[in-house]
Amino acid sequence: MDLMEYQAKELFAKHGVPVTVGTVITDAADAESAAEAHGGKVVVKAQVKTGGRGKAGGVKLANNPQEAAEKAGEILGMDIKGHTVHRVLIAPAAEIAEEYYFSFLLDRANRNYLCIASIEGGVEIEVTAKEKPDAVAKVAIDPQTGVDDAKVDEIIEATRFPEDVRDLARDMIKKLWKVFVEEDATLVEVNPLVKLGDGSLEALDGKVSLDGNADFRHEDHAGFELVEDVDPLELAAAEKDLNYVKLDGAVGIIGNGAGLVMSTLDVVAYAGEAHGGVKPANFLDIGGGASAQVMTDGLHIILGDDQVKSVFVNVFGGITACDAVANGIVGALDALGDEANKPLVVRLDGNNVEEGRRILDEADHPLVTIMDTMDGAADKAAELANA
Ligand SMILES: Nc1ncnc2c1ncn2[C@@H]1O[C@H](COP(=O)(O)OP(=O)(O)OP(=O)(O)O)[C@@H](O)[C@H]1O
Ligand SMILES: [Mg+2]
Repeated sequence: MDLMEYQAKELFAKHGVPVTVGTVITDAADAESAAEAHGGKVVVKAQVKTGGRGKAGGVKLANNPQEAAEKAGEILGMDIKGHTVHRVLIAPAAEIAEEYYFSFLLDRANRNYLCIASIEGGVEIEVTAKEKPDAVAKVAIDPQTGVDDAKVDEIIEATRFPEDVRDLARDMIKKLWKVFVEEDATLVEVNPLVKLGDGSLEALDGKVSLDGNADFRHEDHAGFELVEDVDPLELAAAEKDLNYVKLDGAVGIIGNGAGLVMSTLDVVAYAGEAHGGVKPANFLDIGGGASAQVMTDGLHIILGDDQVKSVFVNVFGGITACDAVANGIVGALDALGDEANKPLVVRLDGNNVEEGRRILDEADHPLVTIMDTMDGAADKAAELANA
């Protein structure tokens, strides 16, 4: 789970990282009092889970509470890279002397942790990394030893932190590592990590990704889930215990087994190139038991997506044999009645495939097309979505 900046800062504060969280508001009418509480001169920052907020106009300085209200009004409701701004953070304007970049992340390719840091931080870190790679330090971290005093020194040295901030940076690095380890994060990023006018260090921005597999040992992490930001279809699917992820295309996908569904997405995207570039509309893995109920729930979610123009049901019969799946599909179409209003392409293979196809043939539902191969079915579904 990715956190919003203010949530990341709350976690930072919990571990003693110097930070000023500020106040989160959802209504511009609350901006004035929030700004007053933070000394009048504030920054108004869009809270969305994407980078480049500053460049997009989502981070603005306000010299007084009235200005803060104006800026909040402008930023709330803004669209930043497809994310609507529902919240802004009002934080005291800091007097910045220098901007650094600092992060800990999971380095999957090297089965390791990695620290990336630079004393040339700020909004253009991606440009710096490209044009001046020497200005960006990368220090590998052995998960067995973690960040001990020697590793902290190595990071300080590699980043070339100025002498006057080294002691504070050491302390900051240790605390950020605590956030990374104790919160089971896969990313802890601070950009900018600033040196203030008085020489102290502060995390002025924060990005944290938490490892969902470790949720069971962090009861408090559930509180970071922001219901109104979850896609309504994904929410409905979660209530039915369906593994559903909404995507942007027009071909609804139902399959059994995450691997099969993933490859179905690939095959549909590929087939779609010949049919106006149509793409998969979702990921939906109905798992082992493809009962009529599960099929009905799955189709109900997919047909509830206005972008869906056709549905591809791709099932490999294993323990749940194809005849059971076929009965599931027939039962689902019965149960859905008029709600089933988009063409369905079905490809069955595996255990009891003949019987499965016979059941579908016999039901002879006007919306259902049976295909023998996965490629053929993907092509048909893409063609129907583009019709
Ligand atoms: N509290 C603050 N006081 C003064 N200036 C700030 C403050 N917060 C941010 N800024 C300035 O705004 C710039 C952008 O802020 P921030 O890093 O939070 O957003 P961003 O990097 O543009 O967004 P993203 O992290 O989504 O890419 C900072 O580099 C800093 O110069
Ligand atoms: Mg930033």
